[in-house]
Amino acid sequence: MMAEQEIKLSDKEFDDVRALIYKIAGISLGDAKRVLVVSRLTKLVKARGMSSFGAYIDFLERKSTREDKQVFVNALTTNLTRFYREDHHFDHLIDYVGKLIARPNQPKSANGKPKLRIWSAGCSTGQEPYTIAMALLGKYPQLKNWDFRILGTDVDTDVVATSARGEYAAGDLDGLSKTQAAVFERPTSDTIRVPAVYRNLMTFKPLNLMENWPVKGPFDAIFCRNVTIYFDKETQTRVFERFSQLLNQGAYLYIGHSENMRAEALGYVLEGKTIYRRLAQENRENVA
Ligand SMILES: C[S@@+](CC[C@H](N)C(=O)[O-])C[C@H]1O[C@@H](n2cnc3c(N)ncnc32)[C@H](O)[C@@H]1O
Repeated sequence: MMAEQEIKLSDKEFDDVRALIYKIAGISLGDAKRVLVVSRLTKLVKARGMSSFGAYIDFLERKSTREDKQVFVNALTTNLTRFYREDHHFDHLIDYVGKLIARPNQPKSANGKPKLRIWSAGCSTGQEPYTIAMALLGKYPQLKNWDFRILGTDVDTDVVATSARGEYAAGDLDGLSKTQAAVFERPTSDTIRVPAVYRNLMTFKPLNLMENWPVKGPFDAIFCRNVTIYFDKETQTRVFERFSQLLNQGAYLYIGHSENMRAEALGYVLEGKTIYRRLAQENRENVA
């Protein structure tokens, strides 16, 4: 097979790509991402019949629609994920939800059912929110009688569509225990599907963490794992602070293994490895 003809990316074009993806999605691409930019964008440049990155960037900046910019964003996101990734978070969540189930005053919905709300922000292709559903319903079948909803959002519209389908390659089961794997349906020998009982708990929507968040809180837990590693410190701080405004008092924010924050200044206390509990309002006002 012939290798795709490479288009040269000048320093200025690389800087322009970086500035544009930062402006739209808050994603900071370091110097080492040059090869990634060439490999991800070459096809898009050629598909427009253009022969340089400069022409493509110029088009994006001056004449493109929202959809054209979305294609650019989708091409530059990194969507690596898997079921039960960083599984200590799910053990912690199971423990926390057990406490919510045991307490008498869990907030109720208009239909009288106790409410449980979880947000997976930057959910990629959906393995994270589906793991939340499988872990919690597996342990507490009584949640079927709760008003239990999981929101999955991502800036990349392609992965949001994949999430909503809930169908994956059979290879996605690699590394799962027999019990974890047994939950999935097998429509074909190559594919697995998340059963409807879990899919029905979900709402998947495109959402850019750099823009308005049309979400209804408060949440009992927010997962935003391996998303803010692509943001600079200032952007991370802003996002974590906004999450704290949407969490119930005592609820949890779970972040990725290589992420961290100045917890107290942002309204949290660090409770475990990359697990942050939202402080009560009165305690938050006392922190410098
Ligand atoms: C590496 S995946 C992490 C998926 C999952 N949370 C996990 O830990 O397995 C990072 C996701 O963050 C999303 N992302 C990046 N910038 C974003 C933004 N500004 N708003 C929302 N999602 C964003 C990407 O599209 C990507 O799907």
